[in-house]
Amino acid sequence: MTVHFIGVGPGAPDLLTLRGRDLIAASPVCLYAGSLVPPVVLAHCPEGAWIVNTAPLSLDEIIAEITAAHAAGQDVARLHSGDLSVWSAMGEQLRRLRALAIPFDVTPGVPAFAAAAATLATELTLPGVAQSVVLTRTSGRATPMPGGETLAAFAVTGATLAIHLSIHVLSKVVEELTPHYGADCPVAVVWRASWPDERVLRGSLATIEAQMAAEIDRTALILVGRTLAAEGFAESRLYAGDYDRRYRPVGSEPRFPEGRE
Ligand SMILES: C[S@@+](CC[C@H](N)C(=O)[O-])C[C@H]1O[C@@H](n2cnc3c(N)ncnc32)[C@H](O)[C@@H]1O
Repeated sequence: MTVHFIGVGPGAPDLLTLRGRDLIAASPVCLYAGSLVPPVVLAHCPEGAWIVNTAPLSLDEIIAEITAAHAAGQDVARLHSGDLSVWSAMGEQLRRLRALAIPFDVTPGVPAFAAAAATLATELTLPGVAQSVVLTRTSGRATPMPGGETLAAFAVTGATLAIHLSIHVLSKVVEELTPHYGADCPVAVVWRASWPDERVLRGSLATIEAQMAAEIDRTALILVGRTLAAEGFAESRLYAGDYDRRYRPVGSEPRFPEGRE
C-alpha cells in the first residue's frame, strides 16, 4: 500500500501528468484538496473509489482516512493543486506518515506560476534583465512570513516576482514594490490560469490597482518584473552562431572537439 501525493496542475484537466492520471486510476481511495483541485480530475478515479474532499477536514481527520486505507491495504491518491513543492501542506502530512511508517511517493505537477507564464507567453528569465524568479507570498491569517522574507528584500535583487496568495492585498504589494522597481515596472495579474474563464490584466505598478475587477479573487497570481514587457534584451550566448559549445563545436580549435561525447 502506498500514498501517492500527486500535483494535479493549475486547473486545466489536460495539464495533469500521465503518471498522475495513471496513479489516480489505480488507487481505490482518493483524497483531494477540494478548494483548488478541479473536480474533473476525479473522473480518472476507478469505479467505486472512495473519494473524499479534504477541504473541510483537519489534519488529524485526513491522517485517519489514510490510516484506514493503510489498514485495508488500499493505495491512496492524495491530490493537491499545482505542484507539491510549494504551499501544498504536503510537508506536515509526510511527517505524520513517516512516523506511522506508511509508505508514500510524490508525483510533481505543473505549478500555477508556470501556467501563468504560459498564458502570458513570457519567459520570466531574460539575459541582462532578470535571471531569477522568486516564488513568494505575503503573510496570511494562517501563515505569517518569516522575518527576512519581505517583498522589499526580494525586490532589492530585481528578480521577477511571482506573488501567490496575495491578490487581496494588491495595494500593499504595489506600495512595497514601487520604490524598488519603479512605478512603470510591468505587472500582470493572471486569474485562474488555464481554466476556461481565465483572465489576464497587464499593466504597471502605477496602473494595476485601477485595472482590477471585482471577480478577480483568491486564485490569482501577481507577476512583477521587467521581463514581463522586455523587448530590447540580449539574445542568449548559448545559441549564438559563434559560441563554441559541446553540442555545436565551432572554429579551428573547438573547446570540445569530440562534440557530444
Ligand atoms: C495554496 S497555493 C497553491 C500553489 C500550488 N501548489 C502551485 O504549485 O502553484 C494557492 C495560490 O496559488 C495561486 N494559484 C493556484 N492556482 C492558480 C491558477 N490556476 N491561476 C492563478 N493562480 C493560481 C494563487 O496565488 C493561489 O492563491
